[in-house]
Amino acid sequence: MANILITGAGKGIGRALARKFAAEGHTVFGTYLSGNGGGIEGCAAAFRLDLSSPESIASCAAELAKLGKKIHILVNNAGVLLDEEETHLVPEKLRKTLEVNTIGTADFTERMVPFIGKGGHIVNVSSTAGSLELADDSASHYPGHYPAYKISKAALNMYARTLAGRLTGRITVSSVHPGWVRTDMGGPEASMSPEEAAEGIYALAVGEPETGGFWFKGERIPW
Ligand SMILES: NC(=O)c1ccc[n+]([C@@H]2O[C@H](COP(=O)([O-])OP(=O)(O)OC[C@H]3O[C@@H](n4cnc5c(N)ncnc54)[C@H](OP(=O)(O)O)[C@@H]3O)[C@@H](O)[C@H]2O)c1
Repeated sequence: MANILITGAGKGIGRALARKFAAEGHTVFGTYLSGNGGGIEGCAAAFRLDLSSPESIASCAAELAKLGKKIHILVNNAGVLLDEEETHLVPEKLRKTLEVNTIGTADFTERMVPFIGKGGHIVNVSSTAGSLELADDSASHYPGHYPAYKISKAALNMYARTLAGRLTGRITVSSVHPGWVRTDMGGPEASMSPEEAAEGIYALAVGEPETGGFWFKGERIPW
């Protein structure tokens, strides 16, 4: 059984994923931003992490290091959608979104890499919203809408590709689209439950995919 680290494990997709890994017998460590983290279901321990704060990232990494455990799977799930209502770019929202979804996630990942053993897996929860090839596909996303979120996920995808190249033969790196999911971010009209999304991410995380892929329900999707 493996040690799993999931960011944003207190609600939404992250919470469903923590429950799924725990139900399969894995040891789950989760991070949270809101609340006290004492009761994150499925997590053996929870750590406060604010991905918009370099100090919080450094202190969370230090706390995780004190566990003295190897991490087998890191799921970078935490993220924000701050410009859902926007059809034009609001620079301040772009800055804040990049801080969490891209820069903070990359900073945290880099600090975790030394604790992820050979054969480990880093899974970034991305979105088809960040796909350059799907950018004009009005069936999946409104072209021009929520630009900050799309930019942040496109950049996160490129981070996954560069990291995959760097860690080839040692650690697998994947990007995954969870689907349109009924969470605070996805809204009540979304087509999938958090549990269904968690099933897909779980299958990818414990599988042995080719490194550097972008996935949805076990299929490759375009970058
Ligand atoms: N829902 C969808 O339809 C959908 C579609 C495509 C991709 N995604 C991606 O799936 C992931 C999970 O989304 P979700 O739908 O579960 O959203 P959600 O319910 O809004 O949950 C977001 C999670 O991110 C954490 N978080 C937010 N800001 C943070 C920060 N500054 N530092 C650390 N953690 C922070 C939250 O922590 P707290 O609760 O502790 O505040 C929460 O656990 C995201 O990366 C999202 O972009 C979602």
